[in-house]
Amino acid sequence: MTTARKKLFIKTYGCQMNVYDTHRMADVLRPLGFDMVDVPEGADMAILNTCHIRERATDKVFSDLGRLREHKVAKEKDGGQMLIAVAGCVAQAEGDVIIDRAKYVDMVFGPQTYYQLPEMVAQVTGAYGTKRIVNTDFPVDDKFDKLPGEHASQKGAAAFLSIQEGCDKFCTFCVVPYTRGSEYSRSVAAILDEARKLSANGAKDITLLGQNVNAFHGEGTDGKVWGLGRLLTELSEIPGIERLRYTTSHPRDVDDDLIAAHRDLPKVMPYLHLPVQSGSNAILKAMNRKHTIDIYYDIIEKFRAVQPGLALSSDFIVGFPGETDADFEATYKLVEDIGFAFAYAFTYSARPGTPAANMQNLVREDIKTARLHKLQALLWSQHAAFNAAFVGKTIPVLLDGFGNREGFLHGRTPHNQGIHVAAPRRLNGQTVDVVVTSSNANTLTG
Ligand code: SAH
Ligand code: SF4
Ligand code: F3S
Repeated sequence: MTTARKKLFIKTYGCQMNVYDTHRMADVLRPLGFDMVDVPEGADMAILNTCHIRERATDKVFSDLGRLREHKVAKEKDGGQMLIAVAGCVAQAEGDVIIDRAKYVDMVFGPQTYYQLPEMVAQVTGAYGTKRIVNTDFPVDDKFDKLPGEHASQKGAAAFLSIQEGCDKFCTFCVVPYTRGSEYSRSVAAILDEARKLSANGAKDITLLGQNVNAFHGEGTDGKVWGLGRLLTELSEIPGIERLRYTTSHPRDVDDDLIAAHRDLPKVMPYLHLPVQSGSNAILKAMNRKHTIDIYYDIIEKFRAVQPGLALSSDFIVGFPGETDADFEATYKLVEDIGFAFAYAFTYSARPGTPAANMQNLVREDIKTARLHKLQALLWSQHAAFNAAFVGKTIPVLLDGFGNREGFLHGRTPHNQGIHVAAPRRLNGQTVDVVVTSSNANTLTG
């Protein structure tokens, strides 16, 4: 018996954890007959895999839902059915509110429930009776072990591997501990197994993911507790894997083993995303970051000592409640002192349910925006300078896809820069030496 294939549309917002989860949802739904499509028109199921980190991200979800509704109405006119689902962090945080506010949404489910998708789909499509569902449980089961072993969705040369999820740090501005639950590490055996499968599928550049990826710890194959450094050592042994990266790390969880991994393992790429948020100790304290600027400078110095030329990346929040001009200038100075190859700056956005949402001394919106523009201008000049230093050099580039420029392939450098390479299509998936011919703040050409 053959089952008719159905169309699955998933839109992904937010962090790389959501990108990974989107692939895993596709893996769970494939045996039910769903194949991924690029546009929502005519889909049998549309999932918004949402992000709750800032207000704007959440607003976007509701405006996109309105658009999906039109596609659903059109599909029903043709006698078809289109399930609309909201997954991810907004689903976890808002649950019932979404179902009440958007009557045409069939399913709302949080990030820990994806392995239950077959049951959930059966519930809403009538196999057990028709109903709309909200599932925001944090099942005690390991969601990862219940997801299919097959990884058909990640096909390219660059792949993500989730090793840790959730967060116990409770920075006062952040929703993640509420949307993703408490810190959880996957087992070493499951991670190694998944890495081998990804490698067998053609992955050569693997990025390990976690909200606090360096909080990872688990019992290793030798019975001892392994941290991220030890795990990287073991992953380095897998022959097909050429490059290893990890994100996002927290300054408090950096240990000597991790720094040693950057020194000893050639496969660990010279790239580090280490968010600092602010250059003012008073603001860091109010944010409950539990590290100071001195600790941050120390860590950076240690990494740079073992891996000179490391591409450093970070996140900044400007306009946190109580941030004075002097606090902001301290952030500006930290950026000038350290120098970042990549970095992301955001204006503070109050998130419901977080401690900072009740703080006084709010910074005026126009001041926040002015600070953001000033900091971004400095960051962009640093990104441009970092990239410009590669022009004229020959670097090993992993070609990982076809861009929209005719005659060019997309690639990634060891320092995690995107690069457009004039190359024949048959080289896709290979690592080749490329002469860099030009650059801007975002990308290289070669
Ligand atoms: N676990 C990571 C960050 C995850 S969230 C860490 O601890 O660094 C990604 C980034 O979004 C954060 O680093 C922060 O810069 C930004 N962010 C989080 N909450 C925010 C908020 N309420 N307003 C503005 N930016 C926020
Ligand atoms: Fe959010 Fe802080 Fe946890 Fe990062 S460490 S996810 S910013 S609470
Ligand atoms: Fe957003 Fe959730 Fe990631 S809030 S940043 S999608 S963990």
